[in-house]
Amino acid sequence: MHRRNFLNAAGVAAAGSVLGQGSKPVAAQGAGFSKTSTKPLKVLMLGGTGFLGPAIVETFLDTGHDVTLFNRGITNPHMFKYLERLRGDREEDHGDPDLSALRGRDWDVVIDTWQKGPKCVEDTAKLLSGHAGAYFYISSIAVYHNTAFRVRGTKEDARLSDLEGHPINRKPHEQVYFLRKTLAEKVLQENFDGNVGIFRSHGMRGERIPLPRDEPYWPIRIWRGGKVLAPEDGQTLAQFTDIISLCRFLVTCAEKELSGPYNVMSRPFRLIDYLTAIKDLTQSDAELIWTSQNELAEFGVKSGDGALPLWSDEPEGRYHFSSEKAFSAGFANRSLSASAASMLEGYFRRYPNDEFRFAEATAEYGMLPSNREAEILAALGH
Ligand SMILES: NC(=O)c1ccc[n+]([C@@H]2O[C@H](COP(=O)([O-])OP(=O)(O)OC[C@H]3O[C@@H](n4cnc5c(N)ncnc54)[C@H](OP(=O)(O)O)[C@@H]3O)[C@@H](O)[C@H]2O)c1
Repeated sequence: MHRRNFLNAAGVAAAGSVLGQGSKPVAAQGAGFSKTSTKPLKVLMLGGTGFLGPAIVETFLDTGHDVTLFNRGITNPHMFKYLERLRGDREEDHGDPDLSALRGRDWDVVIDTWQKGPKCVEDTAKLLSGHAGAYFYISSIAVYHNTAFRVRGTKEDARLSDLEGHPINRKPHEQVYFLRKTLAEKVLQENFDGNVGIFRSHGMRGERIPLPRDEPYWPIRIWRGGKVLAPEDGQTLAQFTDIISLCRFLVTCAEKELSGPYNVMSRPFRLIDYLTAIKDLTQSDAELIWTSQNELAEFGVKSGDGALPLWSDEPEGRYHFSSEKAFSAGFANRSLSASAASMLEGYFRRYPNDEFRFAEATAEYGMLPSNREAEILAALGH
């Protein structure tokens, strides 16, 4: 299906609907998720203008809540001009952290996406303790101990990364990601007196991407059509976190005053179901060429190396986390096809002429370049 037809079919207005831009949205516009709380919540968004934050802000606005942002005004400063935007700096690179704009203010819910030094979370948790009913932190499955990645159904009470000997640093480069996230969870729980919500996400998929290299492989590849190299027989399982579903769950937890850690991701799905959903969504002529692990290995394509994303040959581990606790608390995961539609909407906005080429600019990242895929298919006789 042509890009314009796809956008029309998906009900996406061509103009003015880019997240965080334009004028203030009408509440619940296009969200398909109705407000359940009677009183608007006062939400403080720490950050809010990067990859995930804009979707959180939009979802709270769409459900009738009031959002104030706190950041330095460096990342996407054009966003959310119609909202209250407090300025400050949580790091000390240029002097002491400046949190003065947060003092003397009260909120119902604070939402924090911080992924740099955990000391910055300790600072805000202390400062906002007693001034906010809840503090929600966006975390990651990276906080779990290695053992959690070798079993099926890891739940929230599984062992976390060992923290002994690891200080609470402020500078991000002093600690690896999984330690920063695990320490941030810990200092938040120790220093905030109120409801603490911790949302451990899997790989996130949505309209936005974290980095230019992260364009969504399967939706784009299948939408482009033709013969598509696909791993094994499609029965391997995968999992991801749909950003809209996560954001809606944050609203649910805020409105219901829920707390505690939650794994937030889809239930494991078969890769064939995901690829078929994209094919149906896009009305693509893609022909999936299921190829054995051994044949792929001959061409240097291996499970887990990212060349063919969401492919793991392991019967447990990375794509087997349990999000049943979240489902019981009201988490509703959107369909695979709805997630793929969001990813393609974002892609078509960024690349209206479909110019993106996988991995060609950043070969080390590993997503299969189209010329390499064509070579492999030809060598396999397709
Ligand atoms: N990508 C994935 O697949 C994945 C998977 C699991 C979990 N996660 C988690 O998802 C989250 C993604 O968050 P995001 O980065 O997209 O959040 P975001 O809230 O959209 O963006 C980061 C915000 O932090 C602000 N900021 C940066 N430095 C600051 C400072 N010194 N003082 C005050 N504000 C500052 C930035 O604005 P300014 O620069 O203007 O200050 C920006 O608004 C992270 O927690 C990550 O660990 C991601």
